[in-house]
Amino acid sequence: MTDRYAVIGNPIGHSKSPLIHAAFARQTGQDLDYGRILGDRVDFAGDVRRFLAAGGRGLNVTVPFKEAAWALADELSPAAASAGAVNTLTVLEGGRLRGDNTDGVGLVRDLVVNHGFAFRGGRVLLLGAGGAARGVLLPLLATGLASLTLANRTAAKARELASLAGRAMATGGDKIGEGSEIGIQAGEGIPLDAGGLVVLAGRRFDPGVNADATAQDGTILVAGTVPVNGVGLEDLAGQQFDLIINATAAGLDGAVPDLPADCLAPGGWTYDMLYGDRPTPFCIWGQARGAARALDGLGMLVEQAAESFWLWRRVRPSTAPVIQWLRTGAPPGIRP
Ligand code: ATR
Repeated sequence: MTDRYAVIGNPIGHSKSPLIHAAFARQTGQDLDYGRILGDRVDFAGDVRRFLAAGGRGLNVTVPFKEAAWALADELSPAAASAGAVNTLTVLEGGRLRGDNTDGVGLVRDLVVNHGFAFRGGRVLLLGAGGAARGVLLPLLATGLASLTLANRTAAKARELASLAGRAMATGGDKIGEGSEIGIQAGEGIPLDAGGLVVLAGRRFDPGVNADATAQDGTILVAGTVPVNGVGLEDLAGQQFDLIINATAAGLDGAVPDLPADCLAPGGWTYDMLYGDRPTPFCIWGQARGAARALDGLGMLVEQAAESFWLWRRVRPSTAPVIQWLRTGAPPGIRP
């Protein structure tokens, strides 16, 4: 029988997930059907129950149900647990429901694998302190970056998120909070090479070899430390960053967070988690400030879908032709 999957959200008509997953299934020869469900805002659990009772094997979850999916899951990946939000539900053997969050891995893979960004030693600024920012924190912290600054229009929310990041990812010690040094746990979804090692920003972490890597509970613990700071936008004056990621909703209104003009370091990159048919306001902001690359979130969208596909099917689709197809309208799977 054909395995059934779907994306659930409200609204849902605009979602590109059915197109993306159908392209992945064609490309990999997987026999599956992927639909879309307009979720009931007051009975998300009922919608999920009905889909699973009808033989559904997994769901992608989008706005406004990611938190409800987190609450519904019987077990959570580390990334989903720290995000407080789930975008991928998987029915496990025995019927238990597992919740994952593939947004952060999608962001990191797009930057590192598709575009060759070197996180190691980088000063990264993440703008926003809502669900979108929270969803990518853990994989970002596991990239080998030098520091992470969380900046938000409402400073208190950025400070709260920084302290949450510390609590979620601390591997010991009690000095957790704004500006604290925290351990990072390279959780699931971080690319493993064929030998099952964690490879972060081009560096291998092998418990048998590196003094700063130990194995614990099926994950590899990287003993590096990352300073995380939560600040207001106005506190950014005089600071510079190698990568600025926009996880605010400002672009939906055509706006850009109010940033100091010189906060992008020479050679720095910008990344907007939003995407559109035309360059987003934040992409335009990056271009105007001389960003070496000013990327939008289309690649992240396809990469988070590929990660879900992998969790469900244990097959990793090739994302480049699908990104190209969505960008240009050319059919996927055609190679020169
Ligand atoms: P999401 O789930 O998409 O993150 P959210 O939880 O409503 O949505 O969060 C929206 C984020 O965008 C917040 O960080 C918000 O800043 P505030 O906390 O100060 O409200 C940010 N945001 C929205 N419009 C913005 C604007 N015009 N300039 C700067 N930040 C903005």
